[in-house]
Amino acid sequence: MCGIVGYTGTQNAAPILLEGLKKLEYRGYDSAGIAVMDAGSISVNKVKGRIANLCERTDDGSSVSGTTGIGHTRWATHGAPTEENAHPHLSNDGRFAIVHNGIIENYMNLREELISDGYVFQSETDTEVIVHLLEMYYRGNVRDALIRTANRLSGSYALGVICSEEPGRIYAVREKSPLILGLGMGENFFASDVTALVNHTRNVIYLEDGEFAELTPEEIRVFDVTGRELIKTPSRILWDVQAAEKGGYEHFMLKEIMEQPAAVKATIAPRIRDGAVVFEELRDVGELISGVRKIIITACGSAYYAGCAGKYALEKLTRIPVEVVLASELRYSDPLIDSETLLIVISQSGETADTIAAMKECSQRGARTLAVVNVVGSTVATLADYTVYTWAGPEIAVATTKGYTTQVAVLYMLSVCFARALGRIGEEEKMLTEELQQLPRLIQQAIDLNPSIPLLAKKYHASKALFFIGRNTDYAVALEGALKMKEISYLHAEAYAAGELKHGTIALIEEHQPVVALCCNPDIMEKTLSNIVEVKSRGAEVLALTFRNNQKILSVADDLLFIPAVSALFSAVPEIVPLQLLAYHVAKENGCDIDKPKNLAKSVTVE
Ligand code: G6P
Repeated sequence: MCGIVGYTGTQNAAPILLEGLKKLEYRGYDSAGIAVMDAGSISVNKVKGRIANLCERTDDGSSVSGTTGIGHTRWATHGAPTEENAHPHLSNDGRFAIVHNGIIENYMNLREELISDGYVFQSETDTEVIVHLLEMYYRGNVRDALIRTANRLSGSYALGVICSEEPGRIYAVREKSPLILGLGMGENFFASDVTALVNHTRNVIYLEDGEFAELTPEEIRVFDVTGRELIKTPSRILWDVQAAEKGGYEHFMLKEIMEQPAAVKATIAPRIRDGAVVFEELRDVGELISGVRKIIITACGSAYYAGCAGKYALEKLTRIPVEVVLASELRYSDPLIDSETLLIVISQSGETADTIAAMKECSQRGARTLAVVNVVGSTVATLADYTVYTWAGPEIAVATTKGYTTQVAVLYMLSVCFARALGRIGEEEKMLTEELQQLPRLIQQAIDLNPSIPLLAKKYHASKALFFIGRNTDYAVALEGALKMKEISYLHAEAYAAGELKHGTIALIEEHQPVVALCCNPDIMEKTLSNIVEVKSRGAEVLALTFRNNQKILSVADDLLFIPAVSALFSAVPEIVPLQLLAYHVAKENGCDIDKPKNLAKSVTVE
C-alpha cells in the first residue's frame, strides 16, 4: 500500500514528484524515494521516514536535475521500512528504475530464478524482481520487455518505469492497483491517486487492469498486453483543489468532521425528488430488488461498521434478512450465495484488497453486486453491477469520518428506495425523506451541542481503557466510536452490546473505569439505563451520549454528550459525530499524529 507518481515534461522533475508524493503520503509514509533521469543517466534518492526527509535530502528537489522521473512513498509489506527497501529500485546495469504499488505474489520463485541467473538483489522487497526481469527481457524495446515481465508476475501492481536509453519517456502499468494518467500541456503525469494530479491538470485517463501506458511530454499512448494500441477517452476531475487541502483546520480529520453536514447533504439532497428517494444510477430498482431473498453487506474497518449501522433500517423497511460480514472473513467462508442474494459492498477508497476479493467471490457465485463507494472510477466501483457514489469528496485523514456518515446515509436511502419498490411503504416515504433531509442539519447540531468535548478529553485522555456500550442501533454506533478512539488516540477502547456486559465484561469494571454509554434509541433506552446503573454501582465513571432533555440518563451519568432529537431509524449519522470529536480531542491531548496514526494506512490494498 503505497503512493506512486511520475512526471515527464520540461520542468525540473524532482520538485514536482516531491509535491505529488506529499499529497499521497496518507497511502504510506515509512520511506520514500525518487529517480530522475538526466542526460541518459538515472539518479536515485531514497530516505527512511517521511517525505519531509526526502525534501531535506534533495533541497526540496532543487539538487536533482532532470525533467523525467518517478517517485514513491511506501508502507512496508515485504521487508522493513529501510532505505534499501525504499523504492525506486534499480536494475543491476543501472538502466531501469521502477516504483511499484501492490504485491507480487510469486516473487519468491522469481527471486530464486533471478539469483541463479546471476542477478544481485539490494533489497528484501517483492518489487525488486520486476526490475531485474526488465533487465533480463530488454532487447532494445522497453514496451516489449514490460509486456514480457508483466506476463511473469502474479499479484497486484501499479508500476512506474524509466529507462536510461529512453530520455523523456516514462512507462506505467496497471494490474489490480489504481493508476491514473494526467494530461498536461507539454508535460504528462501519472499517479496512484488524483490528489497528486489536481494541482497540474484536471484531464485524466483511468488505466484499467492489463493496460500499459507510454508517456512523453507531448503525448500519452495506451496499449494492451498484446501490444495493441487502445483509444482511451480522458475524464475531467471535478474536485476542487481546495477540497483536498486542510482549509484552515489543524488536522484533516477535524476538517472532515466539520465537513459532514455538507458531505451528507451532497449525498442525500440530489437523490430526493418530490418526497421520494431516486437513485438514477440503479436504473430499474424494481428489477434490482425483486426476487432478492437475502442481502449481504460486506466491507472492512469503518465501512463494515457503516454496514452494521445500516442493517437496522434495511431490515426494518424492506423485511429482507441482512447479514453484515467482514470482507476478510466472507472471502474464505464458502458463502451461501446465489442469484437471489444482493451483495452490498461498501468502501470509501474502492481499493481495499479484501473487499474486492470478497466481491469477486460472491459475484462468481451468482450474487448481484451493488457498490457504495466514494472514489470515482475505483476498482470496486468498476467491478460492481450497480454503483452508488457517496459523493463525500476526497478524504485524507486515515481515520474516516465523512466517509462513514455518507455510507450510512446511502444505506438509509437504499432502505427507503427498496421498501417502496417492494411495496412495503407507501405514504410514509414522504415523511422518511423529510427525516433524511434533516440529517445534515442534525449533524451540525450534534457538533454545536458539545462544546465541552475538549474538557472531557482532558478528563479521560489518560485512562487505561474505555468501554463503549449500547443496544441495537446504539451498539452499531458504539462499534465505530470505539474504533475511532483506538485508531487515533491509541487508547484501548472496546464496544460491547450493553446486554452482554453481565456475561463477562462487567468483570473488568472497577473504580473510575470510564464507560461511554450510548442512549439514543428510545425503544431500548430503559434497558441500557439498567446497564448504566450496573456499571455505576461497580465504580464506573459514565459518560452518556443522549438527548438533551433525557432526564433519566442525565440524573445517573457523570458526564454527558448530546445529540439532537432524531428518529431511531436514522440516528447513527448524527450520533457518531460527538464520538468522532471525542476521539479527536483525546488523541490531541495525547499528542498523537492524528491524520496519520501509527501502523495504519488509508487505503489497504494488500490482503
Ligand atoms: C482502512 C482505513 C479505514 C477504512 C478501511 C476500509 O483501515 O484506515 O478508515 O474504514 O480501511 O477502507 P475502505 O476504503 O474500503 O472504506
